[in-house]
Amino acid sequence: MAYETIIVEIEEGIASITLNRSEVLNALNDKVFNELEEAATKLAADNAVRVVIITGGEKVFAAGADISQMASSTAVDVATGEKPSLRAFKAIENMPKPVIASISGFALGGGCELTLVADVRIAADNAQFGLPEIKLGILPGAGGTQRLPRLIGIGRAKELIFSGCFIAADEALRIGLVNKVVPADQLAAETQKMAKRFAVQGAVALRLAKSAVNEGLRMDLEAGLEYEHKCFSLLFATEDQKEGMKAFMEKRPAKFLGK
Ligand code: CAA
Repeated sequence: MAYETIIVEIEEGIASITLNRSEVLNALNDKVFNELEEAATKLAADNAVRVVIITGGEKVFAAGADISQMASSTAVDVATGEKPSLRAFKAIENMPKPVIASISGFALGGGCELTLVADVRIAADNAQFGLPEIKLGILPGAGGTQRLPRLIGIGRAKELIFSGCFIAADEALRIGLVNKVVPADQLAAETQKMAKRFAVQGAVALRLAKSAVNEGLRMDLEAGLEYEHKCFSLLFATEDQKEGMKAFMEKRPAKFLGK
């Protein structure tokens, strides 16, 4: 898959999307968002792809939405425009397979919001996170005010949103913004390790487990539990459920086929 602003590579069922606009610190303009949406849609439909990694550069994951593109926008442009950022982020969030954000350096504004649509976040010890939109006279407009409080709690999210301050990787780990922090030179290897741990699981079980969590979060507890039970029941119609339980009884690793 050839793109201008991202690089997509697939190896042994693990796809990686690398942001590739280093000259502007991987600032996210409409072209990037459109390419991210297209790549996410293709990778979602490719059954050979089991896990997707989203990453940036060593010094910068992404410095946010492209301010030069936004600077002259009017309220009407923003309100009635195409909203490519929201479309791209939805396409990534709804991919029916695990998505890992692998973050080195700055993840700011829309860059931080991009990490929030991944299922898990692994950070290098040089990573810095922040939502500096308030300093530009705006607010995080690509899901930051909605996804961040759901992930780290309302008070901590408001502190980041109201101050625009950056936090380092260890603080991001402490408040639950990232799952894991690793030395910068081990980020790629640790991300691959995590991806492989997901990739060997049954694809249908992964898909329904992700759906149960994501859809459940949009419901009240009662409805969420009912939805979980539907997903759980459905898995008993898969060959992977038979194989998983048979392998357990036979004391051997399961070989899942994704069906
Ligand atoms: N948009 C466009 N260009 C950007 C950019 C952005 N978000 N971030 C950096 N750049 C450009 C700079 O303008 C600069 O370009 P020139 O070389 O042509 O001057 C180049 O990238 C390098 O940047 P700096 O010289 O600023 O690099 P630095 O190392 O001194 O600082 C930084 C790094 C702290 C990340 C700083 O660049 C910065 O604060 N960037 C902006 C971060 C920001 O405010 N992000 C939020 C954007 S709004 C948003 O994301 C809205 C939303 O919710 C969707």
